[in-house]
Parts: sequence; C-alpha cells; structure tokens
Amino acid sequence: MKYKTIKTEVTFFLKDHVKHAFSTAADVLRQEGVIGLIRKFFRYYLFSLILMPWLILEAKKITRNSSLKTIVHFGLADNFGLLHSGQIKSEIHTLLSIVKTLSPKVIVEIGTAAGGTLFMLSRVLEPKGILISIDLPYGKFGGGYHVWKIPLYKSFATEKQKIYLLRADSHKLMTFNKLKQLLDKQLVDFLFIDGDHSAKGVMKDFKMYSGLVKKGGLIAFHDIVSCGKSSDCKVDVFWNKIKRTYQHQEIIHDESQEWGGIGILKW
Ligand SMILES: C[S@@+](CC[C@H](N)C(=O)[O-])C[C@H]1O[C@@H](n2cnc3c(N)ncnc32)[C@H](O)[C@@H]1O
Repeated sequence: MKYKTIKTEVTFFLKDHVKHAFSTAADVLRQEGVIGLIRKFFRYYLFSLILMPWLILEAKKITRNSSLKTIVHFGLADNFGLLHSGQIKSEIHTLLSIVKTLSPKVIVEIGTAAGGTLFMLSRVLEPKGILISIDLPYGKFGGGYHVWKIPLYKSFATEKQKIYLLRADSHKLMTFNKLKQLLDKQLVDFLFIDGDHSAKGVMKDFKMYSGLVKKGGLIAFHDIVSCGKSSDCKVDVFWNKIKRTYQHQEIIHDESQEWGGIGILKW
C-alpha cells in the first residue's frame, strides 16, 4: 500500500471514528453517567472486538453451497449487533433465489449498513465474482458502518471472490468513477439499490448506475411498499412511476405491511 493511501485511510479513520466515538461518549455520559459510559465502552468496543473473530469464523462456515434458508437465517440474525439486516425473511429469500439463477459474476449493492445483505449476496455470487458495496458513513436511512467493520465485511469473500467497500456518497461522480475503475469494463449482473430512500435519491441511484447493468441483468429496489405519508422513505413513489416501463416483479410478503417489499426490474 502506498504511503499516500495509508495516510488517507488513517486520516479518514481519525475523522470518522474518533469524532463519532467522542460525541457518542459525551451523549452517554450526559444521559447515563460514568457507570453507563464504562458499561457501554466494554459492551461496544471490547465485546465487539472479541466477538468479531468469532463472527468471521461463523460466517465462513456458511458457504455458497449452504441452503438459502441457512444463509438468510444468518444474514438476518442479530449476531450480537455486529451483523444483521432490515429485510423481511421471505422477501430476501425469494430475491436471493432469483439472483442465484443468474449465476452472477458482478454484484453491486448501494446501501450496506449492518452488512446482512452484503453477506447474503456474497453467498449467491459466483466463486470468482466481485461484490462491490457503496455506503455513505452516517448516511440517512441506516447510518452506514464503522471503519472497524471493514475486516468483517471483507471476510465474507469465499473462494476467489473479491469484495470492495466504497464508503462514499453514491450520488457523487467520484464514487461512480471509482466503481467503473473497479469494474474494469465488466458489466453488472445484479444491482441492489437500498441506499438513499428519498424519491430523488433513489431516482439518482437508478439513473447513475443502471447503465452499468448488463442486458438480461436485474436491478432491485428495497422498500417499495409505502412507509406512510410522514416518512422520508419514498421509494414507493419512485417505483410506482417507473415500474410499468420495464418487465418487473414485486416481492411483497404481506399486502398489509407498511414497510419493505422488493421491486425487481429485468434489464
Ligand atoms: C437501509 S440501509 C441498507 C440496509 C442493507 N441493505 C440491509 O438490508 O442489510 C441504507 C444505507 O444506505 C446508506 N446511504 C444513504 N444515503 C446514501 C448515499 N447517498 N450513498 C451511499 N449510501 C447511502 C446509509 O448510510 C445506510 O447505511
């Protein structure tokens, strides 16, 4: 690794993690006092650091040959708060079974947060495939993930897979260019859009990244079900506007649910 890259990573770590740690510590101290702070410190840092190697080993036990039921169970479990996902079980199970039929070599996920979908997608990706995540640290609709989770997320790669983590705003041209560079002229088999859930935000992701998807590939959006008028989540508004222009499928567990739902476009 070049000196400049190391310097950038260290600066990013200091800005990102230390700043956040201090503001969180101040909040906890104000609300829960010194004992609360000590308790949280042990729980959050030491507990997480001890548990991470265990979780990496547990994740490795689940392979591409494991059943989708096992893969989904692990991806949705709380895993001590270190790895989980805000997906509805039957919906993500159906989506993964569809994605698997593509034998995908290239998957891009916008919005990773607690890593559950990243883990599950790695288990339907081909053995030499690449999986690229774009997630904005402290982004809306989930908050991104801390820098110390990078080794955990990277460890999801099995066999000769490669996982790249772009911790950046998907709407920035620089992020798009970085992705193109990583793709190195390959097209995307499956694009999962689960980042900025505002109508403009999801539209922008769709406009910017759909051109990288190969003909016959798939683009899926999470949260196509209306989350209510007061919510900022407006994927349903975007989805209902565009879905009829394409061959599409909706995966909705229960028509009365007020969140979730996955919309798929055949590209
Ligand atoms: C709902 S979470 C993703 C959940 C994940 N796919 C799962 O189900 O396990 C949404 C994530 O999108 C990220 N995000 C929001 N706006 C973004 C943007 N403009 N660019 C990249 N990521 C963004 C947030 O930081 C958050 O981590």
